[in-house]
Amino acid sequence: MNKTIRWGILGCGKIARKFASDLSLVKNAELYAVAARSIETASTFATEFGSTKAYSSYQELVTDKDVDVIYVATPHSMHYEHVLLCLQHKKAVLCEKAFAINANQAKEMIALARSQNVFLMEAFWTRFLPHYLKVKELIREQKIGTIQYIHAEFGFKPSEPIAPRIYDLNLGGGSLLDIGVYPVFLTLDLLGVPDEIFAHGAFAPTGADEQCAMQFRYRRGATAQLFSSFQSHLATGADIVGDRGRLRLTHRFHGPTTQLELYSSTVDTCEIIPFESAKGFGYEYEAQHVTDCLIEDLKESSIRKLDDTLLLMETLDRIREKMGLRYPADKT
Ligand SMILES: NC(=O)c1ccc[n+]([C@@H]2O[C@H](COP(=O)([O-])OP(=O)(O)OC[C@H]3O[C@@H](n4cnc5c(N)ncnc54)[C@H](OP(=O)(O)O)[C@@H]3O)[C@@H](O)[C@H]2O)c1
Repeated sequence: MNKTIRWGILGCGKIARKFASDLSLVKNAELYAVAARSIETASTFATEFGSTKAYSSYQELVTDKDVDVIYVATPHSMHYEHVLLCLQHKKAVLCEKAFAINANQAKEMIALARSQNVFLMEAFWTRFLPHYLKVKELIREQKIGTIQYIHAEFGFKPSEPIAPRIYDLNLGGGSLLDIGVYPVFLTLDLLGVPDEIFAHGAFAPTGADEQCAMQFRYRRGATAQLFSSFQSHLATGADIVGDRGRLRLTHRFHGPTTQLELYSSTVDTCEIIPFESAKGFGYEYEAQHVTDCLIEDLKESSIRKLDDTLLLMETLDRIREKMGLRYPADKT
């Protein structure tokens, strides 16, 4: 079919800029409309990234009949409200991570998408990156055998001026929901739901977690050690260890990378698997997938399923309960 999917962007912040830039690499897609809380922000953004329309309210964006899909790029605490707004107007949605503040919000968002018969997907870009697809393939091919252990971390020290959303509980602040989601995603995707979770947090004066140390235990014996931090710059790497070998994602495992290391314990070798540099920031792969799904008139992705998104949110709730982290939105 020769159709172009018209994208809208809700919230013109940092990540929206990267996403808008990557949209230019996506086939059968165009950036059609953007919305910010002020017309100055929206117009500047629209001019820079070549959007046809610029709106000074999110309401105007969702009521534009020519918008096919909306990328929600506001702070986590607003995803619930903004996704519901889009879905109520029958707009397909790609929503940034963390998808919501808690599983209850996620359940409502998913239920509305299903009852409206409208496409909804969590923007878990890692799941679509070439090196991660290769990780899945190597594991399927039993190159490392049965996974026994995962170690994954994500840490950086936010630079000044620090965005309010990093530490403000009202905006979903804290390392777990912002960056801890990546190690947790990796482990759920490769090992499944843990039988037991241990978690410990170190808290900022605002009450948001500055660090979160997690351990997942599985009855069959597998374990995962996960960590997120706003206190220190970490390699942000991951080791996936099986009974026949080990996969090492050396640096920024959640984003585009140029190599994977595959160690075999049976022949004691290390193979370097190279990847071409991404043409954009790496968001083009998820955007292409959503565009393709909409061209095929699908209501859900078969790659980043809504049930997997809900599982991630439920697991984050379990971790938060262990570390004693609550958000204002948990009351509802
Ligand atoms: N996938 C990734 O790699 C990745 C990377 C970074 C962030 N993210 C996610 O993307 C989301 C946005 O992060 P960001 O770093 O882009 O944040 P940001 O730069 O602060 O942008 C957030 C945008 O949300 C809008 N907004 C509406 N109400 C707001 C309020 N009360 N306070 C602050 N902003 C408000 C603002 O847009 P307008 O003023 O333009 O309306 C603002 O520009 C977060 O959920 C984050 O986890 C994902």
